[in-house]
Amino acid sequence: MRRVGAKAKQNRSVGLMKGNSGGKKKSYLAVLIPCVVIFFIFLLSQRPSEQKTGAPVRHHNFVKEREQAVLADTRERAIARGTEEGLIGKGKYRCAVVIDAGSTGSRIHAFKFEVEGEELTLLDSTFKAIEPGLSSFNEDPAQAGLSLVPLLDEAKAFVPAEIAGETTVELRATAGLRMLDPSEVQSILQEVHTVLQSYPFKVLDDAVSVMDGADEGVFMWVTSNYYLGNIGKPAEETASVIDLGGGSVQRAFALGEGQQVPATLEEDSVRTIAAGGRRYKVYVHSYLGYGLKAARMSFLKPYDSVEEGHPCMTRGYEGRYHYVDENVSVKSDDEVGASVEGCVAAIEWEMNLEEGCGVEGQCSFDGVWSGGGGGGSEHNYVSSYIVDIARDVGVIPRESTMSDVALGDFMKAAEKVCASDYSQVEQAYGHYLNNDTDLPFICMDVLYAYVLLKSGFKLSPDREFTVVKQFDYKGKKVEAAWSLGAAINTIGKHSVGEVIDHE
Ligand SMILES: *[C@@H]1O[C@H](CO)[C@@H](O)[C@H](O)[C@H]1NC(C)=O
Ligand SMILES: *[C@@H]1O[C@H](CO)[C@@H](O)[C@H](O)[C@H]1NC(C)=O
Repeated sequence: MRRVGAKAKQNRSVGLMKGNSGGKKKSYLAVLIPCVVIFFIFLLSQRPSEQKTGAPVRHHNFVKEREQAVLADTRERAIARGTEEGLIGKGKYRCAVVIDAGSTGSRIHAFKFEVEGEELTLLDSTFKAIEPGLSSFNEDPAQAGLSLVPLLDEAKAFVPAEIAGETTVELRATAGLRMLDPSEVQSILQEVHTVLQSYPFKVLDDAVSVMDGADEGVFMWVTSNYYLGNIGKPAEETASVIDLGGGSVQRAFALGEGQQVPATLEEDSVRTIAAGGRRYKVYVHSYLGYGLKAARMSFLKPYDSVEEGHPCMTRGYEGRYHYVDENVSVKSDDEVGASVEGCVAAIEWEMNLEEGCGVEGQCSFDGVWSGGGGGGSEHNYVSSYIVDIARDVGVIPRESTMSDVALGDFMKAAEKVCASDYSQVEQAYGHYLNNDTDLPFICMDVLYAYVLLKSGFKLSPDREFTVVKQFDYKGKKVEAAWSLGAAINTIGKHSVGEVIDHE
């Protein structure tokens, strides 16, 4: 049973156009439009709290409800703030600065593009990350703003001074802020806005906002397919993206030409993207509460203070797990230790695998329509925490930034990790996710990655997929992150072109 949750009525698109210049075969991208991605209309009549039922409560519900409350709050503001600026920037080059304010840290990306007509070619980019995330400054919003200074300094050094004034800077907060009290979010965003204005960049009215997970997904799709040189190819040849963050997990892929989508699902799940001379219908869904850190809380909570211990915890561990402002007690079952079977069952229970989604045979998990497969759903590029887990449990080499792997590789690693005692885990995997607080959950995490891909997204056990931290783009390593998609969209948003509404 599930809460349907507040549904956003959304009307947005991302505009990209590929062109050919001077007969060159380079993959050019240009942005035609606008994406009204940041503007939403929210149906207040569907608050999640009014839709509870007496059925079994899955423990991630609190995550969803809180994220939705914050989104509701900021979306209403976003409508009132709509801007109609003219074309941003002049001359041959454009820069764009994007800050991804995530749950565990903030990351800045600055991009430099060459503009020819309506085509944008990425020339260079820079990247810098800091921890912790903005949400950890909820009691001291001024500090939240100041924490961004090292990032903004990096961008300032990257962007040529003569175009800084026409270079947009935007901050998009994702899962971490979606978990806070809406009034705390507003104070933090206000402070951030003030700090942005102390830099020479162009700060648009909507420069700072909380972003919907589905936008992350669709921007990630744009980023990945841009770097892979797929923009302009048929849907079947584009990449599908699966992005596991701390708070939510996103999936996006292009639907097949002529694929019929039930009308009731289309509005929430499908975006039209004009790119490379085509119109892609991109399926996207963000599963709130199913990011790595949020999901752990869901898996642990039913075992809070349970005598026998948790099947995902390696033998000899006892402690607490904290996520946002909740904490639970966690201990291992010291007779059997972690059990792969028991842990998978605990994870699958919380994922609501049996829940219907309105289309027989096309449900992923938690009552969500999967997009139906087909189209560009076959070539999967999996990013963020799944790559870190794969690297840290030895599924891929430590130095790898992009590798092809199979589901079985994750299971093999899980069997090894989960069979260890916690003291052995501490010795063998001390570097896990770069933070001591993550180490106790290593068996749970690698099994979650496996179950999510196999039972959740129904990836075939026989077919390899790609885990990607960085793409190779024109001889450089570039981050697999949604920021490029957002930057392209922002430059294009205020450019000339047709608005592509939801079709
Ligand atoms: C853990 O949660 C309890 C309430 O469930 C709270 O009283 C306590 O302060 C929390 N501890 C920490 C360290 O956050
Ligand atoms: C590890 O995570 C905790 C809690 O999320 C945080 O307080 C701490 O600063 C982190 N440590 C490092 C070294 O990043």
